[in-house]
Amino acid sequence: MRRLEDKVALITGGAAGIGKAIAETFAKEGAEVIIADRNAEDGAAAAAGIVTKNGAAISQPTDVSDIAQVKALMDRVAELFGRLDILVNNAGIGERSDFRHLDDEAWDRVWQVNVDGTVRCAREAFDLLRKSGRASVINVSSLMANKHTRQMSAYSASKGAISALTRSLAVEYAPYGIRVNHLAPGYIDTDMIGRFTGNPLIAKLLLGQTPLRRFGAPQDVANAALFLASDEAPTSPGRGSRWMAAWR
Ligand code: NAI
Repeated sequence: MRRLEDKVALITGGAAGIGKAIAETFAKEGAEVIIADRNAEDGAAAAAGIVTKNGAAISQPTDVSDIAQVKALMDRVAELFGRLDILVNNAGIGERSDFRHLDDEAWDRVWQVNVDGTVRCAREAFDLLRKSGRASVINVSSLMANKHTRQMSAYSASKGAISALTRSLAVEYAPYGIRVNHLAPGYIDTDMIGRFTGNPLIAKLLLGQTPLRRFGAPQDVANAALFLASDEAPTSPGRGSRWMAAWR
């Protein structure tokens, strides 16, 4: 028995980097996978390369900062599967700027994708997650939620908000059998930080802040996500239980 056999998993930003590794890992463990990425071409290519029990993964091009597109995404999941067992809010972007030069547009860009995107997906997926009975939401935060480097204030603040939101959702969703956790990866070798890891001077600086003295691989994060998505992670008794009755 594979660890995610017959579960339905939705991964935002699943066309590249960490999200793609998560999508591939979940499919290998038996999940049906939906990739929701704003890059339609890369999303379709990633989905086509992922074998699932029913054929291939599904790509639904989605910009998570656009509420109409998020609603259309959840409608598609409802139509195809009628429930959702795993939601990974992974889509994210960064902006590098000294805080005093950070304009409203740059701040809004980061906030709308990282925070509003996570909020909207977690909220609009609620009915589908509730139908699972044993659902798991995984929000991808960052080491930067608790640590700061220069010129990353918008990104750090957005990841801090995701971590705080995760704690609130964990409390509010638990009575419905929905677990909510976040992952806070360190430096992971993807396109997002490629321009830093590719520069020997900056790479040395970043590795100096990394106890293992190596950049993480997307698969490292996917392995952690796999545990949180699986039934091995602690789960609540779910809706309708005595525990639930006590909650009310
Ligand atoms: P990446 O840039 O390699 O991939 C991000 C994917 O998200 C891309 O396919 C992109 O098209 C998609 N995306 C961007 N905005 C979107 C939107 N509005 N709607 C839907 N899809 C969108 O990035 P990476 O490194 O794989 O990062 C994934 C997540 O991990 C992000 O939330 C990032 O903040 C977080 N993270 C990354 C770390 C790193 O060192 N790479 C460290 C800690 C956290």
